[in-house]
Amino acid sequence: MRSNTLAARAWFASDRWSRWLAAGVVLAAFSGCQDMYDQPRYEPFEASTFFEDGASSRPLVAGTVPRTDPRNLPDVPDRNLLLTGLKDGLPSRSAPFPVDQAVLERGQGRYRIYCAPCHGEVGDGKGIIVQRGFTPPPSYHDDRLREAPLGHFFQVISEGHGAMYSFAARIAPQDRWAVASYIRALQLSQNAKVSDLPPEDQGQLQEASK
Ligand code: HEC
Repeated sequence: MRSNTLAARAWFASDRWSRWLAAGVVLAAFSGCQDMYDQPRYEPFEASTFFEDGASSRPLVAGTVPRTDPRNLPDVPDRNLLLTGLKDGLPSRSAPFPVDQAVLERGQGRYRIYCAPCHGEVGDGKGIIVQRGFTPPPSYHDDRLREAPLGHFFQVISEGHGAMYSFAARIAPQDRWAVASYIRALQLSQNAKVSDLPPEDQGQLQEASK
């Protein structure tokens, strides 16, 4: 009996009991999380006996406007191409609208926000998130991706690809084309030959390197 009391005193004198208490609190907290995780809920579009129409998903409230409001899409000759990236059922080689400096600048801005953290500023696949351990994406300067049609980039942004998630909810279709076009510009920038430059610039380059 006496030795038990001593043992109990020693136990409380050490801070071991407070560690057990902390462990207990943590366990209790986590078992709470588990209950929340397992709480009764419906999967999207699951059947339900609660509503008269037998569906758990409720119809949209009248006047609801989709986030990609079709009225905000640019007026292009081939709307299907704008939204799917496909031309005659295959990834398109060109954008659904002319690509000018303004489109490339828009693409650059969106690329820096949404893609560069993983793909890197020049598209070599060595962005900051990858440096911290995320799955490395392929470089855009690999032959396969240099030869891939523009529509492939549009589709990857829209649908995601392997470990990469979809950006459809974040980037409007016309901006996805702008990003795809900017990637093409990045690819050119990393594989440019002197002979690609207009003659006057070639001359300037030769002057500068003398
Ligand atoms: C969170 C990191 C991350 C972000 C952000 C990201 N990607 Fe990716 N991306 C990846 C990874 C990882 C892969 C490789 C996926 C695989 O093959 O499993 C990939 C692959 C790709 C590919 C190659 C597809 C192929 O054919 O192999 C393209 C093109 C691409 N991404 C474009 C983009 C664009 C454009 C953006 C911005 C709108 C973007 N990614 C944003 C991680 C990311």
